Amino acid sequence: MSLVKWSDALSVGVPSLDDQHKKMLGLLNQLHDGMMSGKDKMALGEVLKTLIASTAMHFKYEEDLLARSGYPDGPSHRNEHAELARQIQSIRREYETIGPSAMTIPVMSFLKNWLTAHILGADMRYRSHLVAKGVK
Ligand SMILES: [Fe+2]
Ligand SMILES: [Fe+2]
Repeated sequence: MSLVKWSDALSVGVPSLDDQHKKMLGLLNQLHDGMMSGKDKMALGEVLKTLIASTAMHFKYEEDLLARSGYPDGPSHRNEHAELARQIQSIRREYETIGPSAMTIPVMSFLKNWLTAHILGADMRYRSHLVAKGVK
């Protein structure tokens, strides 16, 4: 059973950004499934690493898009990304130290909220701006 499902309610109206968000949700589900099925430290660690890498790529892509399109709240959006990056890095450090037992159900539900609350909050606030600019 997946942790989090994509729905149109999560769409920010920009296909390239929706695709990246979908990919991140997919990695969260992989992490969750791996945890539930008792995958070993290496396998689960790889998924976590991929999630962190695609998160970093996505944040950079989104920040560039916001800057290029003249979005006024870019700096506060960047700060929010930096905080999210710190949070997932701290989960990664915990994982490196204690292994798969760091991936608990509360940690997974934290990560679910970590991503969806940002998409539904800060990301959704740029929606009308980017759509009006015709950004794809
Ligand atoms: Fe964002
Ligand atoms: Fe985003």
